[in-house]
Amino acid sequence: MIETRRPLAIVVLAAGKGTRMRSAIPKVLHPIAGAPMLHHVLRTAQALSPARLAVVVGHGAEAVGEAAQALVPTAAVCLQAEQRGTGHAVMAALPAIAGFEGDLLVLYGDVPALCPATLEGLIAGLGTGAGIMVLGFEAVNPAGYGRLVIDTDGTLARIVEAKDANAEELAITACNSGVMAGDAATIARLLEKVGCNNAQAEYYLTDLPGIAAAEGLTTRTTFCPEAETQGVNDRVELARAEARFQAEARRAHMLAGATLTAPDTVHFAWDTLLGKDVTVGPNVVFGPGVRVGDDADIKAFCHLTECEIAPGAAIGPFARLRGGVAIGRNAHVGNFVEMKNAEFGPGAKASHLTYVGDAVVGAEANLGAGTITCNYDGTMKHRTEIGAGAFIGTNTALIAPVSVGDNAYVATGTVVTTDVPAEALAIARVKQDNREGTGRRLRQRLQQQKAEKQAAPDGQ
Ligand code: UD1
Ligand code: MG
Repeated sequence: MIETRRPLAIVVLAAGKGTRMRSAIPKVLHPIAGAPMLHHVLRTAQALSPARLAVVVGHGAEAVGEAAQALVPTAAVCLQAEQRGTGHAVMAALPAIAGFEGDLLVLYGDVPALCPATLEGLIAGLGTGAGIMVLGFEAVNPAGYGRLVIDTDGTLARIVEAKDANAEELAITACNSGVMAGDAATIARLLEKVGCNNAQAEYYLTDLPGIAAAEGLTTRTTFCPEAETQGVNDRVELARAEARFQAEARRAHMLAGATLTAPDTVHFAWDTLLGKDVTVGPNVVFGPGVRVGDDADIKAFCHLTECEIAPGAAIGPFARLRGGVAIGRNAHVGNFVEMKNAEFGPGAKASHLTYVGDAVVGAEANLGAGTITCNYDGTMKHRTEIGAGAFIGTNTALIAPVSVGDNAYVATGTVVTTDVPAEALAIARVKQDNREGTGRRLRQRLQQQKAEKQAAPDGQ
């Protein structure tokens, strides 16, 4: 299908205000699975390999345009200074596709769950003689959606907006998703005929099918499940879109060979990558940028962001990898271990209560409970290097910048302030002093003080 179809231009409408979000952030920049809603739409658009891609911006134009080009640097950003309707918005994009010969597909920036295959199916309709194709769905509650007035021969006579519809039209449950496709030059020409004599005094894109039909062009529909076309207009719908993404991601990861012991409690980012036979325990959160290698075990309650976990590693429970972290093969990162900007070598272990920041830890090194890399002096960050096979005793503070050589041994409770050579033993703690009987005498004195205090009449 992709090989035979005509070149494609895609216009994404994202100029609307999103009033019902009640937000200072433009609606299409609200995140779903860690990425702006707009990016989900643009990724779907990219899956269709368009020759041109334009995003129409208005409210929050600068931020929305920047977000679009951050993902697709070649995208044209078209300003629609005043929001005068969806037809008007597509017109704002026409300069960006001037002279383009091929088909035009219109998407909405606030409809993030469409599948590329659904859109391919819609565009394929153009190849079978339809001048305009509209993506429809059967609505459980058609409410404010535009209604599809379909003739008995199956062609689309016109779309009527809910606000302009009569009782008979409002009873129609076939609704307009807003997605439309047609020959680019034809759409541009038909848009000139669109007026704004309607309930909202807007230039409706939805007037095109009726105008096309009046010209004798064939207008058809394809239908998709309602869930796919669900738009985001308020935070309740945003949460629903998130839930839908998560449900699909869990299913996809399981079908691809990961075990999720409690799938409903695992939260994925849009780009999480899991290898074969990865196990993910309950209540794990994946932020963006996580890649997990084969056979790794992510135990319950981990929170992972921007990290690469090599095959066979065991993480958690309750581990936090905060970004810029690479965990080596078969390494162990245990409970209440936090890492940031750290390379943790193959077979290395930090089994409990440890902070590793701005550090390189060599293969097979072992960090005892309470090991802390003191990487921040309040102004600057400094690096810690721990060599292969090094043993760091419990409750060690490593004051960066500092290094511990290969196979060195740092004694428990040491505050490491200077570099430790390879194979050396570093110990820095006050020498122990045992005073015979002092413990007993101290306890007696304290108990006496407590008794005197309780006996005092005013409790003093
Ligand atoms: C639109 C359709 C309706 C359909 C529904 C599906 C029209 C006239 N109506 O209604 O048939 O059932 O979507 O969700 O098209 N936008 C701009 N500039 C504008 C106006 C809108 O960029 O001047 C953008 C919005 O940011 C949004 C999209 O176009 O991404 C849709 O606009 P919206 O106002 O939500 O249209 P609806 O009233 O939902
Ligand atoms: Mg809408």
